[in-house]
Amino acid sequence: MIYRLIYVSLAHPRFGIDHLDDILSSSRRNNTPLGVGGLLIYHAGRFFQVLEGPKPAVLGRFNRILADWRHWEVAMVDAVPAATRVFDGWGMGYATPEDLSPALAREVQRLTEVVGLDGPGGPDRDAVIRDLIGFLEGFDETVESASI
Ligand SMILES: Cc1cc2nc3c(=O)[nH]c(=O)nc-3n(C[C@H](O)[C@H](O)[C@H](O)COP(=O)(O)O)c2cc1C
Repeated sequence: MIYRLIYVSLAHPRFGIDHLDDILSSSRRNNTPLGVGGLLIYHAGRFFQVLEGPKPAVLGRFNRILADWRHWEVAMVDAVPAATRVFDGWGMGYATPEDLSPALAREVQRLTEVVGLDGPGGPDRDAVIRDLIGFLEGFDETVESASI
């Protein structure tokens, strides 16, 4: 069993695209030895991240990420034990919606709209999460390119 945590957040107004390099290199440095992998998406001022790995390591990283000034309004979408990794061997992948299939990009967009600004809640949140997990499980087939 591994643990999969998904959250969305809003980029801080002083966040610049240049900060992404720093975030991705910290992620590589810190996550890999802990066995934590996943996917980070940044689009239109919002982050979407999936963290997968041993539960204590995932929660430890998430705690650190929560305190990062570069984003706020962090809203946990889902945190569940899972039998297998969706992002096996990816390190911390990075993708923009252009890298995703149109269907997955729409799901991610929808999810950030539902959860991003108002915090968890809202009528169709559970349905969106179910859809999204379904999409993520087919991610290997739907993604065309993403760099690590
Ligand atoms: C949206 C977002 C996602 C991040 N994801 C990770 C991550 O997966 N792993 C990680 O170690 N740091 C991540 N960070 C960076 C951490 O908040 C923190 O800056 C970093 O872990 C510090 O690393 P260092 O102590 O090695 O310098 C993320 C930051 C942001 C804003």
